[in-house]
Amino acid sequence: MGIRSKFKKYLLHKRLPIETYEPIKKSKPEKIKEMVTAWAGLELIIEDILERFDIGRDSCIEFGVEFGYSAVVFSNFFKEVKGIDIFIGDEHTDHKGDHYEKTKASLAEYENIELIRSDYRDWIKKDTKQYNFSHVDIVHNYKETYECGLWAAQHSECTIFHDTESFPEVRRAVIDIAKATGKHVYNYPHCNGLGIIV
Ligand SMILES: C[S@@+](CC[C@H](N)C(=O)[O-])C[C@H]1O[C@@H](n2cnc3c(N)ncnc32)[C@H](O)[C@@H]1O
Repeated sequence: MGIRSKFKKYLLHKRLPIETYEPIKKSKPEKIKEMVTAWAGLELIIEDILERFDIGRDSCIEFGVEFGYSAVVFSNFFKEVKGIDIFIGDEHTDHKGDHYEKTKASLAEYENIELIRSDYRDWIKKDTKQYNFSHVDIVHNYKETYECGLWAAQHSECTIFHDTESFPEVRRAVIDIAKATGKHVYNYPHCNGLGIIV
């Protein structure tokens, strides 16, 4: 990391501090689908998070699937994984354009993953279920992350948020969601950052 980006990171951590999450162990899940993704590396700490906070292993909901890297990681740990995405990308993704059929075909072998083409806004209006675990990795703006993440934190034991280091707006939303729900917040400062609300 260059001196400029080190300084930027230092300022971000000073301005928006979050307790650092220190994994005790790192373990590679059995099923991984290799692809280009900013999520790579985080698969090593998911089991550690689940064990640390004693999270149930029945259900997981993910907002922001794209090509399915994180969804496949979660499929190792939960009986059911629901993946919600508009499957057209957004202002922050490199890929734009409809990739629903392609993603569905490439994840077909993972029978416990259900992909649902929906905007999170429509989904959270109608879903009242409680999940063991949730993941928010949609467009990285404050408003969307806060709205989707608040619902996720209210409907699961533990919610993780990607890009707390690369997008200050995500970090700010995570801090505010923890305040609004009275839950505890941690941050893993690697692999673009992972916020953990529990
Ligand atoms: C950064 S990518 C997700 C990366 C993925 N988690 C991985 O493991 O590589 C963000 C995804 O969020 C989706 N998205 C953006 N806005 C959304 C919205 N309002 N509702 C649902 N999905 C959305 C985009 O279509 C895109 O596929």
